Amino acid sequence: MDKTSSRTTPADALVIFGVTGDLAHKMIFPALYAMAKRGVLNVPVVGVASSKWSVSRLRKQVKDSIKQAGKIDDKEALKHLLSQLQYVSGDYNDPDTFIALKQALGDARHPAHYLAIPPVLFATVIKGLGACGLADGARVIVEKPFGRDLASARELNRIALSVFAEDAIFRIDHYLGKEAIMNILYFRFANSFLEPIWNRNCIASVQITLSEDFGVKGRGVFYESAGCLRDVIQNHLFQIVALLAMEPPAYQGYGAVHCEKAKIFQAMRPLLPDDVVRGQYAGYRKEPGVAKDSDVETFCALKLYIDSWRWEGVPWYLRSGKCLAATAAEVIVQLKPPPQKLFDDSRPLDGRSNYLRFRISPNSAVALAARVKRAGKEFVGDQHELYLLDEQASVETPYERLLSDAMAGDGALFSREDAVEAAWTVVDPVLATHHPVHRYKPGSWGPKQADTLVAADGGWHNPVLVKAEKCK
Ligand code: BG6
Repeated sequence: MDKTSSRTTPADALVIFGVTGDLAHKMIFPALYAMAKRGVLNVPVVGVASSKWSVSRLRKQVKDSIKQAGKIDDKEALKHLLSQLQYVSGDYNDPDTFIALKQALGDARHPAHYLAIPPVLFATVIKGLGACGLADGARVIVEKPFGRDLASARELNRIALSVFAEDAIFRIDHYLGKEAIMNILYFRFANSFLEPIWNRNCIASVQITLSEDFGVKGRGVFYESAGCLRDVIQNHLFQIVALLAMEPPAYQGYGAVHCEKAKIFQAMRPLLPDDVVRGQYAGYRKEPGVAKDSDVETFCALKLYIDSWRWEGVPWYLRSGKCLAATAAEVIVQLKPPPQKLFDDSRPLDGRSNYLRFRISPNSAVALAARVKRAGKEFVGDQHELYLLDEQASVETPYERLLSDAMAGDGALFSREDAVEAAWTVVDPVLATHHPVHRYKPGSWGPKQADTLVAADGGWHNPVLVKAEKCK
């Protein structure tokens, strides 16, 4: 089998497995429409699924999706997108499905196969593509979660690599396509003032919170098989840690970034049950598809160490949950207080000395908090945030950016095999062995046990509430 990838050759067709599903409806069609509006979607789009749909049924679905995501504001672009669509119906276990796909692809030699399907089907489809010769010169785009533990991730990588070259495998973590997260990499290495302080000497701790004020939103079945640790921490939050913690890339180019990020995952100390607090919001067990005695976590907080020269002894606190008090994602890099207490308020009682704050969502911001003197005779002051960036609007959504990149063969914003496996190695010990979940009230900041985890480092910094919506 020819496993040589055509790295820089743009894809000449896009195949979407699972085209009738939720991911396609919510994310992929709006992204394709945005690409069509920019004039960069000029290849056939072949949808594949088991439902006996016609292409006109698929067109209707695409229109619905775009309306739900916003509005149809460019009829020509929509017409263009709809005219590119084809549909193949079939069972992924049936070789005839892949033969029909091959026919639909006609002269296309470099298709990009997007697996918008449940993870249990990844291996079947990848093998089907390989057996039918549809992997040659092609690339595959795989959604997270990539595996559900270390063993399954290894097995999936083994299967994918038996059919595709590593640089033809695009593992999507949509956080990597977010403007604010790309800015972490830029901000760290485009400025020289940070490097002298960016280590255990000046940084006391780092906190990352991804909080959502809504529940599992009908995804109970998925959540029962995943839980918060697998759903967002092992991937989205770990990616943020890697960008914050990595060493400077040795050369210009994303290969170097991938290498340095992988080293961070390798240096993370594997978690133990006492490092993790798991929570479940009251009412979760009544969600459709959820077991009445479920012990699956909808909240997870953990304390992590990176065993490297730079980060020795610095705790990294990660926290995420559904049905919390606000919808926001934020990083706080907490700096150490001055060594000597020269002023009465040099070491503020509330525990917050200077910090850098990266707001990831719903808006993007970078702020540096420092103390300045209050006017008057006394040497007392307040901490103020200096905004280096505030409310930057994104030009492309993460899915639009990542889909365009994958089609162009640009693997910069995707995860590499070794990094994915190293990240699983960190969480693997606590996937099966952990303390039971603690109940928490919807609209709160999670179980109080999570506060104990971070108490020695000044408590959690809760992102300022942006949407005072009640938990649905
Ligand atoms: C997804 C998770 O990967 O990320 C969801 O499956 C979560 O559970 C979502 O809500 C958060 O992403 P964003 O971009 O909305 O912050």
